[in-house]
Amino acid sequence: MQYERNPPLDETGLLSDPVAQFERWLADAQAAGLVEPTAMALATVAADGKPSLRMVLFKGLHEGGFCFYTNYESRKGRELAARPYAAATFWWDRLERQVRIEGRVEKLPRELSERYFHSRPRGSQLSAYTSRQSAELATRAALEARVAENAKRFEGRDIPLPESWGGYRLVPEAIEFWQGRPDRLHDRLLYRRDAGGWRRVRLEP
Ligand SMILES: Cc1cc2nc3c(=O)[nH]c(=O)nc-3n(C[C@H](O)[C@H](O)[C@H](O)COP(=O)(O)O)c2cc1C
Repeated sequence: MQYERNPPLDETGLLSDPVAQFERWLADAQAAGLVEPTAMALATVAADGKPSLRMVLFKGLHEGGFCFYTNYESRKGRELAARPYAAATFWWDRLERQVRIEGRVEKLPRELSERYFHSRPRGSQLSAYTSRQSAELATRAALEARVAENAKRFEGRDIPLPESWGGYRLVPEAIEFWQGRPDRLHDRLLYRRDAGGWRRVRLEP
């Protein structure tokens, strides 16, 4: 397919702060009616240097970092504990746009995780409380039985935020904006953080 919906991605049209620029592009993706505009592929690295990749949902910015929520003892959680670096990619197909983010990952303050956890539907809270994410499971029925047990246990009261569950923020060191253009001559503008702030360069497609 030809990528031809976008006008040139012009340096003068981009904000000097890439996080603010990201917010603009995300707003465009949300306005375009995409199914999951906040879905991003998140790559982590195991202690032996091997990468792993999965989708997570972007849940807003905190002190300039890109937030997501998960289980701290999941595969990604264990990998992040050993190597606190990640890369994330958004792909907004209808807009022919990609954003890549790389940086260091830190856990969010507990109170933010508390607030987010309790803002979710009760069923999601119960699943997050019950699931030992990424552990092997004998049968689905065994998991559903544990969910049912917990539903009974917490009937009529709040489901507590488990120790093993919460948020992270990816603090960007590099953010690239990619826009599809005809004949695969795409536009790529990369922001790198250095001592003086953000520096922007154009990359070959
Ligand atoms: C669109 C989409 C969004 C997802 N969002 C999340 C999320 O926000 N947090 C999460 O823990 N898992 C999310 N998942 C599930 C993960 O992709 C993954 O299966 C899970 O986190 C376990 O990954 P791990 O074993 O590498 O730790 C999502 C999956 C999809 C397809």
